[in-house]
Formats: sequence, C-alpha cells, structure tokens
Amino acid sequence: MLSLLRPLPVACCLYLLLLLLPGGQGRIPAYNNGFHYQDISNGNGNGEIYFNGVRLHVESPEPAVSATRGSSVTLPCHYHYEPELATPRRTRVKWSWLPANTISAPVSPAASARETEVMVAMGNRHRSYGSFRGRVRLRRSAPGDMSLVINELQLNDTGRYRCEVIDGLEDESVTVELELRGVVFPYHSQEGRYRFNFFGAHQACQDQDATLATFEQLFTAWEEGLDWCNAGWLADGTVQYPITDPREGCGGVDLAPGLRTYGQRHHLLRYDAFCFSAAVKGTVYFLKHPVKLNFTEAVRACASDGSAIAKVGQLYAAWRLMGLDRCDAGWLADGSVRYPITKARANCGPPEPGVRSFGFPPWNLKFGVYCYR
Ligand SMILES: *[C@@H]1O[C@H](CO)[C@@H](O)[C@H](O)[C@H]1NC(C)=O
Ligand SMILES: *[C@@H]1O[C@H](CO)[C@@H](O)[C@H](O)[C@H]1NC(C)=O
Repeated sequence: MLSLLRPLPVACCLYLLLLLLPGGQGRIPAYNNGFHYQDISNGNGNGEIYFNGVRLHVESPEPAVSATRGSSVTLPCHYHYEPELATPRRTRVKWSWLPANTISAPVSPAASARETEVMVAMGNRHRSYGSFRGRVRLRRSAPGDMSLVINELQLNDTGRYRCEVIDGLEDESVTVELELRGVVFPYHSQEGRYRFNFFGAHQACQDQDATLATFEQLFTAWEEGLDWCNAGWLADGTVQYPITDPREGCGGVDLAPGLRTYGQRHHLLRYDAFCFSAAVKGTVYFLKHPVKLNFTEAVRACASDGSAIAKVGQLYAAWRLMGLDRCDAGWLADGSVRYPITKARANCGPPEPGVRSFGFPPWNLKFGVYCYR
C-alpha cells in the first residue's frame, strides 16, 4: 500500500513564492531564474521536500517458497527507490507472519487468525520475537536486501510472511508464502473412529511427530490422489475429508470430487484428524530381527539397536519423501501396525502405493517393528 506523499506545506511555499516574485514586496533581492527556488526546495535539510516524487518499491521475486523441515529458508524481499537516491535513507523493516495453523474466528476469537511479529530491524539493530527468537536474520547481501533467513524450520512455521519497509513517509509491503514439503495422513484414536475433539486431534498429531494439516496441505494431498471417507479436524478448526472417487456415504455420487467440508465445528465435537508430517532428519528402518515381537518387545528391540520405535508421522514421511518400501507389517510407537509401499505389488495390499494399516492390534500379537534413528 502506498500512502500519499505528503505535499509541500502550503504556507511555507506561498511565502517563498512571494519572496521570489520580481517586484514583490519582499526585502530580499529577487532571483527569478527558478534555480534559487529549486535549491531551496531540495536543500532545506528536513528531508521531506527532497523526497517529493520519489517512490519506494518493495518486491519479492518469489511469491511462494517451499522448504523442508529442519532446513534453512530465505524469504526474498528487496526494496529500492525510484528515482535512485543520492543519499541513503534510514528505513525500518518489519517481517510479520500470518500462521497457516490458526483457527479462524468466530469459533475462538482469542485464537483467531492475526499477524504476529517475526522481526523488526532498523539500521544494524534488530529484534526477533516469539518462537523466531534466535532463528531469524536479514540476509543483507546487497543494499535493499531485506530477505528473511529462517533457520531450523519447524512444521508450524508455514503461512504467509509480510515484508514491510517503512521509511517515515511511505510504507510498502510484499508477502511471501512459506510451505513445507511433506505428507498428509488421516489419523484416528486407538479407541476407535471419531474420538478426537479439536485439542485431542492437535495433540494426537503432535504425538506422531506431525501437526494438524492446513486446508492447503489437505487440498494438495487431495490433488495428489488422497481419498479418505472419514471426517477429520484441520488446523483452522474446520472438519473435512478428501474424495477423489465420489460414492454413496461419502457425500454421494452426484457431488464432484473434492474436499467435503462440515465447515467450522464446535471444538468439543469429535472426529478423526488429518496430520501433516515433513521430512525427518534421521532414518526410519525395518529392524532386522530373528523372530517376530509383541509390542513391549518391539519397543525394547529398537532401544537395543540405539533407536526409538518410529512414530506414524515418521513412517509416512519416510514413505513419501524417502521412498521407503517394505512389505512387512511392523509396530509403531502408538501401538499401531503398518507398512509402507511405494511400488504396489501382489500380496502387499491394494494396487496403489500407500501406508497399509492393521489398526491397533492387541499388544501380545507378534509383528516386526519400524525404528527411527
Ligand atoms: C511450533 O512448534 C514448536 C516445536 O514443535 C513449538 O515449540 C512451538 O511452540 C510451536 N509454535 C506454535 C506457534 O505453535
Ligand atoms: C511380550 O513378551 C514378553 C516375553 O518375551 C512378555 O514378558 C510380555 O508380557 C509380552 N508383552 C505383551 C504385551 O504381551
């Protein structure tokens, strides 16, 4: 948004004009060559008149940036003046963030979507806020480069970032969308279907090294073929499910493929969850072990191998992002049994790739185990 340039103070200029008019009543000798006038206009030292006609431009070459969890990312933002300035001006830069993982009003006004500050910088001084403290800096690779560098990206850093340049007279901004590469997976409680209220869903995803999926993440997953006929919570407090193959009981055959939505639901109502997991730093592997294991043995076997039993989000990330493919059912940390298939084949489940699930079997049954290190 470009605020209007402040006009020359009218009183001052009329006065100057009077002084400069030939034959006017002023006592100062008149120089009516225009030069003197211009000189006064540009050189009175208060900086504002000088600035007339100069425009501040703030730009980003990339409106959207995608990155992986744990990595560093640069959100580009540059500013310049037109025409170029002979002397540099003091500018203030503010980066703020509209998190993707916010509940929209009116369900919970307290937690409603609003921009929060990430960093404010002026000259060489800067300050960062909240969970960004100590993780962000300005790149400053050239004059006017106000690109934001975020280190150690977390799952919940996704959203829209605004780069705002303020120089006293003008205020211009540009936004950059940050997405994380990852995978969406449906998740339900060990106790059965539709057991999570909003907060329980949030916690369940976190327990699986994941976060509640945003609408955009679920939409992308649907575009990539996710079809799931059970409604789940999303980060914005809505309840939805993705259908690629319309059928009875899932919105009906007359409804086009798409996300079926119940809209915003009361936070205490119960559904499943759609979680989002992104690349993990370590590796997920099927433990080589001479015999099959019950759940307690499985937990212990991973520990003896210097690892931990893998979480569901870690298995999905390894399947989707690392191509993990293994036709052996294994225990996971939540007590579920699953296996990841990237190349569908006989005796390894349905004819599409996917993470196959046996649900939550009794703990004394024997399977393999997936560990994470
Ligand atoms: C984002 O996730 C991190 C680590 O999981 C957590 O410490 C932080 O509080 C979360 N931030 C928000 C805004 O939820
Ligand atoms: C798993 O097997 C061990 C013996 O190896 C046994 O002590 C334990 O109770 C079993 N756990 C379950 C949950 O059945």
